[in-house]
Amino acid sequence: MRVLGIVSPKGGVGKTTLALNLAYALATRGWRTALLDVDPQGGVGLSLVGRAREAPGFAGWRAGIPLESCLVPTRNTRLTLLPVGAIPWGNVVTWSSSLADGVELWRLIEALQGRQDVLLIDTPSGLLGPTLGVIRSATDLLLPVQAEPLSLRAIPQLLEVLATQQDSRPSARLLGVVLTMLRFREETPLSVAQEAWELLPERLLLEAFVPRDPSLVVASAKGVPVGLLGRRPPPVTTVFDRIAQELEPRLGLAEESDDEAIPLVD
Ligand SMILES: Nc1ncnc2c1ncn2[C@@H]1O[C@H](COP(=O)(O)OP(=O)(O)OP(=O)(O)O)[C@@H](O)[C@H]1O
Ligand SMILES: [Mg+2]
Repeated sequence: MRVLGIVSPKGGVGKTTLALNLAYALATRGWRTALLDVDPQGGVGLSLVGRAREAPGFAGWRAGIPLESCLVPTRNTRLTLLPVGAIPWGNVVTWSSSLADGVELWRLIEALQGRQDVLLIDTPSGLLGPTLGVIRSATDLLLPVQAEPLSLRAIPQLLEVLATQQDSRPSARLLGVVLTMLRFREETPLSVAQEAWELLPERLLLEAFVPRDPSLVVASAKGVPVGLLGRRPPPVTTVFDRIAQELEPRLGLAEESDDEAIPLVD
């Protein structure tokens, strides 16, 4: 099982949007995918109603509730959610900082081994507490970078933190950087994108990126992947499929190229 943490030193860059939509895309592409939310402000369970909304989630699992009762199955049989659950708000600082060593996350990962192909983890912004725990226990990290001035600083910041964690097991590697909220019609975001393409090694920056798109605001307000917004999913849905497709070989989920032609007629 690959464990992919979505991390960023900066808030509001589209982590949760990417996590939810990428999890949905991977599941739709056939991978058994679990989406874990370790952000106390978590948005992953937003769309859940009824009993699922009451699910004990990750906080409940930490408090000793069996994992089976905490996992939330979805209509897509390959997608399972583990929302953050009921946070002990009076105690949230201790709750968060006690995740920083990665030990409990590692225990959860062990419990999910063999049942999932990919575990995606949505994290709070910053590189402390639960996010540091994810950096210490994940196999791979994905860094969403908003296409705006100064945002590229997030990359060396994350790399510096990674360099200090080399002896943790398994040491997570930065799988890729995804540009988010890119506006084509404005000069500044485009120049940031260009700077990223020039500065970063080719393999690090994903070719696929997330454009600024109002459908994503509507979908994230409802807490659903954009592909479930209506009977005819908005065009931006395909972006997450492309990101998933680009990540699969990097995650060892598929061969680098799958160019065997499918016969038109059997
Ligand atoms: N590509 C996009 N186009 C338009 N709006 C977007 C896009 N991505 C995210 N948003 C909106 O921006 C806001 C922040 O996005 P999101 O919650 O995904 O960021 P985040 O990095 O998870 O934030 P936080 O650090 O608070 O957890 C949300 O209102 C979301 O709907
Ligand atoms: Mg978020």
